[in-house]
Amino acid sequence: MNTYIGIDLGTSSVKLLLVSANGDVLNSATEEYPIYYPQSGWSEQNPEDWLVATAKGMESLLNGYNREEVKGVSFGGQMHGLVLLDEQDNVIRPAILWNDGRTQKQTDWLNNAIGQEKLSEYTANIAFAGFTAPKILWVKENEPENFAKIAKIMLPKDYLAYKLTGVHSTDYSDASGMLLLDVKKKAWSKEMCALCSVKEEWLPKLYESYEKIGQVRDEFCLTNAIVTAGAGDNAAAAIGTGTVNDGDCNISLGTSGTVFISQDKFSVDGNNSLHSFAHATGAYHLMGCILSAASCNKWWMEEILNTDDFSIEQDGLEDILGKNAVFFLPYLMGERSPHNDVNARGAFIGMRPNTTRKQMTLAVMEGVAFALRDCVEVAKKSGLQIKETKICGGGARSNVWKKIIANVFGVPVKTLCVEEGPAYGAAMLAMVGAGEYENVEAATAKIVKIKGTVQPNDVLSASYEEKYKAFQQAYPALKELFAQM
Ligand code: XUL
Repeated sequence: MNTYIGIDLGTSSVKLLLVSANGDVLNSATEEYPIYYPQSGWSEQNPEDWLVATAKGMESLLNGYNREEVKGVSFGGQMHGLVLLDEQDNVIRPAILWNDGRTQKQTDWLNNAIGQEKLSEYTANIAFAGFTAPKILWVKENEPENFAKIAKIMLPKDYLAYKLTGVHSTDYSDASGMLLLDVKKKAWSKEMCALCSVKEEWLPKLYESYEKIGQVRDEFCLTNAIVTAGAGDNAAAAIGTGTVNDGDCNISLGTSGTVFISQDKFSVDGNNSLHSFAHATGAYHLMGCILSAASCNKWWMEEILNTDDFSIEQDGLEDILGKNAVFFLPYLMGERSPHNDVNARGAFIGMRPNTTRKQMTLAVMEGVAFALRDCVEVAKKSGLQIKETKICGGGARSNVWKKIIANVFGVPVKTLCVEEGPAYGAAMLAMVGAGEYENVEAATAKIVKIKGTVQPNDVLSASYEEKYKAFQQAYPALKELFAQM
């Protein structure tokens, strides 16, 4: 039996799936690694930790399985992170992650001095603090000794691929988030490289996500496995959930939250509020990304309520849906879409002496749903209508959260038989590269199966519509205060 390995290099852990060619999940493994916050708003990880965790996960994944049957490996990975290697392939400094907000100055310089119009012309996007190019400028300005050592620039999952194959590669979906790629032309932007003092030879070779980049090195004992380039985690999740046709939507409730809209043709929304990126199918997508989603719930449960029993805390929330007077702004790490504001902060609003723990728990989940709705509103302004959505990510395991999303968005939410979106999608990208399927669409049509649908309810949707109007007023009212804090 041919088998495939999908690796999702996430922010809190790496998840690995062993999948048969018809999509059966044979085994899975998860290994965690630390995230460091060396200063307020900064976030970093050690690329070596990813490697150690992936190697460990691989051993437990393959324990009891025939390694010779593994015909392909691919990746989904946290996007935008900056990994720098020197001439000897040593990691120069810890990776600066997608949710790191240290680059306000560089982001402002790009958006204001160079100008959003030019950036959009060169890359189809504007600068956001989490994107890779502002991080490179930050290293140049703040750590010139490290900048002088750069021989290779890569994204997180590309570091794993490099160690596995020896090939310095990336794919178009992940490269889109660097602000160095001309997304429409699918080529590195010479203008952006010049503006950011990046030599093109530092950058990886570009591939489609399903294209073979090489073979697994001998020491990993996977002699028959090819490796394909893989994708940014959201594009990989879109494959894992079958979000591959024009207008299809997927919501991911992971550490970040995303609204991903698949597009056959390249397009840019009027204000560049949504990211215009390449898709792992070979086509394109538009995406809104909020920096804190399931991570808000994790913070509330673990750091504040001091519990790891999320389901007990969520018991009974169904009875108070639509009746909550407490609001939560989920901007724990600042916000990307649509506010583009590193100063934004988390906030609870509306508590009274009789406010309960349950109401505050519900407010956290509702706040995330409202923030994602903000992204949908931008899509609507560009004429995009979302008729239904798939859902994946850790937060999607909560039935009450799915119900909240269905009613805040006012659309049916489809759940999947296999919920590990990015790792499952990555396995399919390996299958296509190995010739198991003709293309990504054929693989998803055969493999992805819907488990059920959460329908919105008219009364609840109407109540959430009112609440969303109130939520929309909160950020503008607090914006100045956040900037002063
Ligand atoms: C997308 C983004 C996040 C990370 C999380 O633009 O920044 O979704 O990819 O892993």
